[in-house]
Order: sequence, then C-alpha cells, then structure tokens
Amino acid sequence: DTNRFQAIISHCKEYGFIFPSSEIYDGLSAVYDYGQWGSELKKNIKDHWWKSMTQLNENIVGIDAAIFMHPTTWKASGHVDSFSDPMIDNKDSKKRYRVDHLIEARIDELEKEGKKPEADALQAEMDRLLAASDLPGLKTLIETQKIKCGVSGTSNWTDVRDFNLMFSTQLGSVSEDASEIYLRPETAQGIFVNFLNVQKTGRMKVPFGIAQIGKAFRNEIVARQFIFRMREFEQMEMQFFIRPGTENEWYNYWKEARMKWHLGLGIPAEKYRFHDHVKLAHYAKAACDIEYEFPIGFKEVEGIHSRGDFDLKNHQEYSKKKMQYFDPEINQNYIPYVIETSIGLDRTVLMVLSEAYVEEDLSTPEKADSRVVLRFPPRLAPIKLAILPLTKKDGLPELAREIMEACKPKFRCFYEEKDAIGKRYRRMDAIGTPFCVTVDHQSKEDATVTIRYRDNMQQERIPISEVAAIVNRQLEG
Ligand code: GAP
Repeated sequence: DTNRFQAIISHCKEYGFIFPSSEIYDGLSAVYDYGQWGSELKKNIKDHWWKSMTQLNENIVGIDAAIFMHPTTWKASGHVDSFSDPMIDNKDSKKRYRVDHLIEARIDELEKEGKKPEADALQAEMDRLLAASDLPGLKTLIETQKIKCGVSGTSNWTDVRDFNLMFSTQLGSVSEDASEIYLRPETAQGIFVNFLNVQKTGRMKVPFGIAQIGKAFRNEIVARQFIFRMREFEQMEMQFFIRPGTENEWYNYWKEARMKWHLGLGIPAEKYRFHDHVKLAHYAKAACDIEYEFPIGFKEVEGIHSRGDFDLKNHQEYSKKKMQYFDPEINQNYIPYVIETSIGLDRTVLMVLSEAYVEEDLSTPEKADSRVVLRFPPRLAPIKLAILPLTKKDGLPELAREIMEACKPKFRCFYEEKDAIGKRYRRMDAIGTPFCVTVDHQSKEDATVTIRYRDNMQQERIPISEVAAIVNRQLEG
C-alpha cells in the first residue's frame, strides 16, 4: 500500500522523526537525518536490543569498534573481491540501476496484473541467474521482459556489470603516501578482528557472543525506499562463537530466539516470515532473513547467518595471527564457527513506525473527526508522559511544573501549556506519547490529576503521588 507508505513518510517529517539529509540543499539521495523524536525512538530501540543481547545473556558482551579499519581487513573478509551487485545503465537516461531492483519491480507489476505464475517464474529465474553470477543471462532477462526506465520508457541498456558497494577514502593528507581505506560495509568485521582481545581479556568460554551497534556504509543504487535502503545506516550485530559441529543447533537456536524478540515488540506473528536464502552471501553456509510485512510488502529486517570459520580463518591467514581457541572441555585447539544475527536499526525503526501508525476515524453523527496515533509500545515511545496544565493561570502551571520536576529524572517527559487541551492531546497522539496527565482546579484541592491513555483515549482521576509509578509499571511490562 504505497499510499500508507507515503503517509508514514510525510508524518515522520511533519512530526520531527525523520528528515531528508541536508534538506536545505534538496537532500542527498538515500541519506536521512533523525529529528528530535526519531532519534529518541531509535535510541530506545537500540537500548532494548542491547539489553536483550548483553544484559540478559551472561555469555554475550558488547564492543564499540571503529568505522575505519586496516584495509587488509576487507581483503580477508572477501568484500574487496565479492561485495558487489550487478548493475546496468540505461544509455538514454544515463541512469544506473541495480539489476535485481529492476526485475523485482517487474515482478511486482506482474503480481498487480494478477499474473502470479509468471511473477513466480521470473523470481525463480532471477534467483538462478544471480546465484550463478550470470551477467549476460541477466541482461537477456531484462530485454526479454521488455523492462523500461524513465519517463520516455526507453529500453536501451548497456551490458550488466558488477559494482563494488564499498565507499573508499584516503588516509593521510598527501596523495602520494595516502592509502585507500574503506568505510565499513558491515560492523561484523570489527568483532572478528577483536575476537581474541575480547576472549582473552573477558576470559570468555565458547559458546559466547560479541555484540555491536554502529554505522555501516554501502553505495547502494537505490529506488526511493525511504529509510529501508540507505547509503549510511546502522546495524545491530552479534557474532556467536561456537564449537565446530554445533552450528546447526545454534543456527536454529538463534533463529528462534530472534523471532521471539520480534514478537516481544508486540507485533503479531502473521506480520513476520522466514525467508531461506538460495543465493548465499560469500561468507555464508546457511542463511535466512526475518521478513516483516511493511506497507511496501514483506521485506528483510534481519539476517541470521551460519558463517562457519570463514572470517576467523581468513583473518588468521592474512594477519598471520593465530585465531584459535583452546577448549578445555575437549582439550583441543580450534578456530570457532560463527552464527551471526544482524538486524538493521533503521529498518527496525521503519518496522516499529509502520506497525504503530494508525489513522482513526472518530466521527460522530454530529461531527466529523479523526486522529493519527502512533501506538508504540510504551518502552519505545520517544516521550513517556506529557504534563499539561489545563489553563495558564490560577497556579496550575506551578503545580504541573512540580510534577514535571519529580518525573523528569525517571523517564522522558514533556511539558506544554499552549493551546486547547484537545489539541495538545492530539499532538501527543501523533508522536506516540502513551500517557498525558492534566492538572486542573480540582488538582489543587485534592492532589489528583486526570490521566489520559493514548490508545483508548479513556481518562481517569489518580493521585499525583501515583503518576510516576503508573508510568514505570508500563515501561517494565
Ligand atoms: N554482517 C552481515 C550483514 O551485513 P546484510 O544482510 O548485508 O548482512 C544485515 O545486512 C542487515 O542490515 C539487513 O537485514 C538490513 O536490516 C540492514 N541493511 C543492510 N543494508 C542496508 C541498507 N542499505 N539500508 C538500511 N539497512 C540495511
């Protein structure tokens, strides 16, 4: 539903969640900035993932590695040679496209026309050609499908070529002795090169995990997909180091554990599905995606990959440093195998926003009315509590301020005294604030306030002394 997708994008901009990057210069393609509420939402998701990985798993620790890494890292990881996508240029429009995007758009078209068998056949053929890296075959497919581009609808294509997705820059100021380095295209390698540092200093015993949250960069050729596919984005990754031979067991364990985490966000199971990979990434032995049903269809949010000893073995070879672990239980040295869980933070933000966004018709026979509400789980909401004096006089702001001072060290609060109370409620609905308390004249007499719940808009009177506890209870739940 592209209308719903567009509505969410507009809402994000209008209410301070997400802006196009450097918008005053008309933006930068596939790069976005998080505004005042988007950055809170994103941070809450980060904290929630971090806690569920590190605090709740005694055998998983976190690190924060640099974005820049020694250039040999990317030789060893296979990214210099294999991290590329087949692209094609349109000779008339001079525009470059990722081949899979072009063909996927055609598959969508066929599905919309009700030609499901043709769509499935095209999907299968594309998967086969991509897996075989058959570039001429992909070009033939684009031609036989009569795929066109641009307003003039031309189909004058170049050959298909592979383009590396890594960004590079120069380390050092004088060009002669500068060396080319890359912006990391995944955070995982920062974990692999620190495997022994963490294992030894943390006295970690296999099986154990290392988690990391951080920026990654890919020179994607993009269709307009908002924060779904960006050139600069954040990943939340965890590498779990295991004894060789136990990989199937742990792969299944993490598939299940990660799906449980997703369902714990309050998103119904039917909005998720697993997608097993046919075309495996250069490092993987088995891999699947967790897909969520975005307004633009089921798409990947997280990948779970069985990486074997691919990374550690290659780093051992290139660095000449032993990447082995001595397992006291079986009295053996080995290079551990790895199960990776890798979730896109921005995609998770988009998933949580897509799930939360509701346009509600509140019309009565007398009056047309509606609201947009973001039904975030309270622990992810940018603001937990709004504190609103009914009027600007009679000491109500002073009392509201007292509540604000008492609550703001505990969780994110928002104070506002301008505009009619109904309008203020609606603004809080639009940014997903789960609770509003209103201070009125009665408050001064009996130390109670009205609490208003975002989801059902019900109101009740509660003692001021209970406000913080009510909010806190919801944040823990
Ligand atoms: N270390 C493994 C790895 O990077 P990936 O499947 O290429 O695997 C993992 O990426 C996750 O990162 C994806 O599931 C997706 O959520 C996110 N991701 C990848 N490319 C992205 C992009 N261009 N924009 C936003 N998120 C992206």
